[in-house]
Amino acid sequence: MAAEMDVMEKIISLCKRRGFVFQGSEIYGGLAGVWDYGPLGVELRYNIKQHFWRKFVVERDDIYGLNASILMPERVWEASGHLDSFTDPLVECKVCHARLRADQEDEIRAHEEGHQKKGEKVEWSEPKVFNLLVETHLGAVENEKSKAYLRGEITQGVQVNFKNILDSMHPKLPFGIAQIGKAFRNEITPGNFIFRDREFEQMELQFYVKPDEKTSQEVFEYWKQFAMEWYLSLGFKEENLRFREHAPDERAHYAKAACDIEYKTEFGGWKEAWGIHHRGDWDLRRHSEYSKVDLSYFDEEAKERVIPYDIECSGGVDRAMLYVLLEAYTEDELGGEPRAYLKLAKHIAPIRAAVFPLLKNKPELVSKAREVYAMLKKEIPNIAFDDNGNIGKRYRRQDEIGTPYCITVDFDTLGEEKPEFKDTVTVRDRDTGEQKRVKIEELKDLLK
Ligand code: GAP
Repeated sequence: MAAEMDVMEKIISLCKRRGFVFQGSEIYGGLAGVWDYGPLGVELRYNIKQHFWRKFVVERDDIYGLNASILMPERVWEASGHLDSFTDPLVECKVCHARLRADQEDEIRAHEEGHQKKGEKVEWSEPKVFNLLVETHLGAVENEKSKAYLRGEITQGVQVNFKNILDSMHPKLPFGIAQIGKAFRNEITPGNFIFRDREFEQMELQFYVKPDEKTSQEVFEYWKQFAMEWYLSLGFKEENLRFREHAPDERAHYAKAACDIEYKTEFGGWKEAWGIHHRGDWDLRRHSEYSKVDLSYFDEEAKERVIPYDIECSGGVDRAMLYVLLEAYTEDELGGEPRAYLKLAKHIAPIRAAVFPLLKNKPELVSKAREVYAMLKKEIPNIAFDDNGNIGKRYRRQDEIGTPYCITVDFDTLGEEKPEFKDTVTVRDRDTGEQKRVKIEELKDLLK
């Protein structure tokens, strides 16, 4: 277990050192469950989100994009059932007054063991129901009417815009609405780095189908497989992902059926990555009731109004990023030296390729390398230039952040002694360390 914990610690340290993830408001002592993403973290997240958007929206003709607001009035959360049911059971340790989730057995046990080492026996308070929604007030007067909530799931922004999408895009069932955005939960025990946060980002699809049990079950199966394939395409090994069906008593209040995609983590075994939920007509029916706006859909074929069923795919961006880092972190030996590097899938690596002049103090190499860099950057924006330190160190620096290729401009590129190599560069592969000579004009295709 100790060695396994090390991997997480090494990733946390790498993320801070290399500008992926910082503790939120760190110079003020940090805010629990809140993280800031640095230059490389932003790029990695952007690539994950863009890959989601591409596969779930852009490449399809039955899914519409949406960007709804984070702040929503109390009535929305009454209707969605979150005010009543979006709760965790909270227990308090009577020895040190720490508050933990009663249903998280591993954490409860670890807490008890901590006290046992000091000879203390833990007693717990009776579980209390604790609502996870983050409340705020809008406007100059703070009262019941000014109350609003930061959304606890991005889903509700889609449900309240269902009619807007019907009226503006005139979609035919089945169709979906996808969104990426921040969600907020007052988690009792945030932790495990960016695994469980109080502020986090979700990528979701709500896919609406005719309210028919058989069809909706088939669609549920379809999106389960689709989400799994999407997750695998981030570079996961098949054996590290699995489905887990929820038992009826662990489903969220809105779900008729639910299945998670789980990742085998280094820090705590199988943990949730995505949720695929059969939400039935729960949300649209409740919002119709509470808003008094008709959210039904007119089925032209059957000549009847129906409230569609909603099959949801819901994944966390932060969690995907954590799992991608855990999966990619690799230690090996290259050229007789130990190294640690991120074996990231090429399409999500924060930097696609780095261009170097072999030597920093040879102006002809530097200017040629700058030229290659500028040419590539026009086509593939996430290209870096580095001329700092010796070439071996530059390779290691790029390996550590997962850059798939390093391109070096050397004396052969200039073609002075070996005209046959003029306008070629070396391209080094991150995983194998192997180098090959490639014509500069062929680089764009190689990198794309
Ligand atoms: N709309 C459905 C929904 O929100 P969920 O299972 O509560 O379902 C979906 O959350 C996904 O959001 C999870 O699979 C996880 O990836 C991510 N997620 C949920 N709570 C999170 C938290 N506190 N920190 C980071 N990610 C979280």
